[in-house]
Amino acid sequence: MSALAEDAAPADLWYLAALSSEVKPGAMERKLFFGEPVVLGRTKSGEAFAMKDVCPHRAAPLSGGRIVEEGEPAVECPYHGWRFATKSGACSLIPALPSYAQFDAAKIKVRRYPLHEANGLIWIYWAADGREAPPACEPPETGLPADWRPRITVRVGAEGPFDETVIGLVDPAHTPFVHRQWWWREGAGLKDKTKTFEPTPLGFKMPAHRPSSNSRIYKFFGGAPTTEIEFRLPGVRLETIRLGKRTVLGLTAMTPTEDGKTDIVHVIFWDIALLTLLHPIAQKMTESFLGQDGAILRAQNENLARAAHRPLYVGDPDEPAKWYVRLKRAWMARDASAPFVNPIAGGTLHWRT
Ligand code: FES
Ligand SMILES: [Fe+2]
Repeated sequence: MSALAEDAAPADLWYLAALSSEVKPGAMERKLFFGEPVVLGRTKSGEAFAMKDVCPHRAAPLSGGRIVEEGEPAVECPYHGWRFATKSGACSLIPALPSYAQFDAAKIKVRRYPLHEANGLIWIYWAADGREAPPACEPPETGLPADWRPRITVRVGAEGPFDETVIGLVDPAHTPFVHRQWWWREGAGLKDKTKTFEPTPLGFKMPAHRPSSNSRIYKFFGGAPTTEIEFRLPGVRLETIRLGKRTVLGLTAMTPTEDGKTDIVHVIFWDIALLTLLHPIAQKMTESFLGQDGAILRAQNENLARAAHRPLYVGDPDEPAKWYVRLKRAWMARDASAPFVNPIAGGTLHWRT
């Protein structure tokens, strides 16, 4: 599968690059996004940066070097010590050149990627053509107070086309079958659901509503919780549960790492003391939940890799999948000189889960 495949991840969007806590001051890490090596680092003063992890000189990985902070912070290549400013990507030193060589090193640049860091999450903007252009959209926002950090993090590596991974996130009908644990659904069977959706700038959402009575996990919160579920391009799902003044927010983000591989990261934020007490249990529950998604995607991909297959979407339960496909196509075919027009009108869907 090539990066140009129809079911590959779309560009000109923000992807979750890492958790803030994974990128330590003065340290760098090599990552793959869209199959491309990227060095993700942080200066000692705390500013995160991302550059192509390929030295323009002779392709050594910059991530194997070090961050030098003599004046402008720069990354020093491990091979011949060329330095690249973290702010601009411009070459600031070629150590082997005598000073009389009169060469303007700053003409050499390594590609930089815009980052957005908020609530303990680092988002990377992935442009289609490698140009450093202003981002075509806003990064995802949690709407949470600035000092909130994820309390739970689970990462699962999924295999298969990016689209299938994302559709597994918006598809309601798999839930009672893939996620059969006692704390999620009672064994007693499916219930009729009616869900209303409205469009958002880059996706669609179910506005705050009372969760289904057969979802046990919500009963745990007691009282009368409401839940709002939003999906936005490229593959970000936000579920906000409100209980009076208290909030639990689950964020799932899909990031293509290399051909046919996608990282699914799920983080949960909350300000409920009881949940903090139950943290180890909540962590385990989240791991098993996401692991189930990973397992079915892997099994599905075993087949997709071997058998030509066109998906068969039937009725309202598959409507969000179709919306995603339409949304992504519209984004990829958009007129970059005009505001994006979301083709999804929303509406009311009926299904049994
Ligand atoms: S390869 Fe990076 S300095 Fe030579
Ligand atoms: Fe799932």
